[in-house]
Amino acid sequence: MSNATPLADRQAVHARSLADPDGFWLEAATRLDWMTAPSRAGDWSFDRDDFHIRWFEDGVLNVAANCIDRHLATRGDQVAILWEGDDPTTAPRHITYAELHREVSRFANVLKGLGAGKGDRITLYMPMIPEAAFAMLACARIGAVHSVVFAGFSAEALAGRIADCDSRIVITADQGRRGGRTIALKACVDEALAIARAVDHVLVVRATGAEVPMTAGRDIWYHEAALNVAADCPPEPMAAEDPLFILYTSGSTGKPKGVVHSTGGYLLWAAMTHATVFDYTAPDVYWCAADIGWVTGHSYIVYGPLANGATTLMYEGVPNWPTPARIWEVVDRHRVTTLYTAPTALRALMKEGDAYVTGTSRASLKLLGSVGEPINPEAWRWYHDVVGGGRCPVMDTWWQTETGGHMITPLPGTPAKPGSASLPFHGVDPRLLDAEGRELDGAAEGNLVIAASWPGQMRGLWGDPARFFDAYFSLYPGVYTTGDGARRDADGYWWITGRVDDVINVSGHRMGTAEVESALVLHADVAEAAVVGFPHDVKGQGIYAYVTLNAGVAADETLRAALRDWVRREIGPIATPDAIQFAPGLPKTRSGKIMRRILRKIAEGDTASLGDTSTLADPGVVKALLSESQARV
Ligand code: PRX
Repeated sequence: MSNATPLADRQAVHARSLADPDGFWLEAATRLDWMTAPSRAGDWSFDRDDFHIRWFEDGVLNVAANCIDRHLATRGDQVAILWEGDDPTTAPRHITYAELHREVSRFANVLKGLGAGKGDRITLYMPMIPEAAFAMLACARIGAVHSVVFAGFSAEALAGRIADCDSRIVITADQGRRGGRTIALKACVDEALAIARAVDHVLVVRATGAEVPMTAGRDIWYHEAALNVAADCPPEPMAAEDPLFILYTSGSTGKPKGVVHSTGGYLLWAAMTHATVFDYTAPDVYWCAADIGWVTGHSYIVYGPLANGATTLMYEGVPNWPTPARIWEVVDRHRVTTLYTAPTALRALMKEGDAYVTGTSRASLKLLGSVGEPINPEAWRWYHDVVGGGRCPVMDTWWQTETGGHMITPLPGTPAKPGSASLPFHGVDPRLLDAEGRELDGAAEGNLVIAASWPGQMRGLWGDPARFFDAYFSLYPGVYTTGDGARRDADGYWWITGRVDDVINVSGHRMGTAEVESALVLHADVAEAAVVGFPHDVKGQGIYAYVTLNAGVAADETLRAALRDWVRREIGPIATPDAIQFAPGLPKTRSGKIMRRILRKIAEGDTASLGDTSTLADPGVVKALLSESQARV
């Protein structure tokens, strides 16, 4: 590693960042290009009476100018976005910083032509093509707030997200490609807009060239609109606290939360963590194999790497198509130096045997990253030993949509403990609390909270300030509650133990159990549903649904399959239940609260330790559940 940070140095920087946050962050902020430099760093309080979070408040900047314009003089001809198509025979695309400048400016001018400007919300429903990044950066350039919706979400889910933030423009493509299949994106947008009607325009990028119906007056082909605009568009000066984007994520209620990120603090966090954790130096080829529909794609495919002048690889497909060697072949083809992916992908590839890996060179790799869920030590070792040939350090990065970027993570040079995300990044002050909110010292296990604000922290939930406070700051007063449990060992290393709330982590994707329950009860045959997670070999956690049917409805395999499809249609394939158990009744307390602890145990197959069931309104329910728990789809 060119810039490995010895443990003691990292700890010294961390100590300084907490002792003198103003000095530390004003200095760190100089890595960005400001139109007006900030004179203040953090100004925040997590207390109910004085609740506010602001960073670099008097600073003015533009995110697209930071990600593009400032690199033009020094690296205009360097590749900014290296695109690899789904089909391995498709020619890769190399978009230089100079080209990116023209493409994003054109896109921005098209959006302006449609009447979009500062503060307007624009929804993106895009495949993994460079135009998705152009569209995000074009929004940032004109000060519009993008809301990227993962292209695997259903029309229903898309409609809800369009309506929630009142987007008047939707950007999509005719179709997407993934794993050899096409995805009918425009058709899905049409279906969504039959529900969420108040949209003025749909801008359609031609990706596959498929014929798609266009609604006159509403739908516009991007390639036609782009012919009539200038290839230059001045970046809009934005206040550091202006919102950059909204990203919907799952919480513990049925309604997804519109997480809002800021312009200045977020960009600084994404850029600084990308540079420090991945030790990025040009002309390295850096590959984050996430989708831009998730926060990982925002921070570590687009904003962090481009702010640092990196070459960021964008891959349209999936790691294991056409064969389980594809991911490693892409590494060789583009001489990738840094690979950042999720444990679920590693576990799936691991199952296929080492030959797919060892048949490739991977000599270009210098560093490996992991994100999205705890990485089990077995997958960690396979990643380190087989994929990285024992040469590449593994960065197990713990963070969340809400945190904007890495929070607890090794840095190159941090001694590794497989399965531990190791130590807090600069400025991050994690603590452990017991269930009553008492702080735990030394080696301990409890609820993971963060005691001080950091620049990348989310600034709110779109349109719902009360829910923002309640969801993150009310359970334990004065701190940010992560929703994760963690253990700190005697060396001060952090081990994330998983969610402690009603959120489950399926293949590194967050899913609210309440969201799946809401979808199930919408079905005409369903009276009640309860959803829990259970351990799954590849996905980390699977979705287990208990369903009580309306009187007279036959509980058969046809209905089970129909319910599975129903959830796919309501939310999207990532929410498909792995198991559906028909239940004559659900275990409830006398006050009517479902006892999920019991449902989780049954789903895990851990029926010997169900614990105290005497507080149940009808203890007989449990017996019935146990006798039917084998029936999984
Ligand atoms: O439970 C933690 C888990 O993923 C959650 C955040 O999910 P999301 O907002 O979708 O963001 C995913 C990309 C950061 C966390 O609350 N998680 C994420 N990374 C790790 C992790 N759990 C353990 N180790 C990680 N490295």
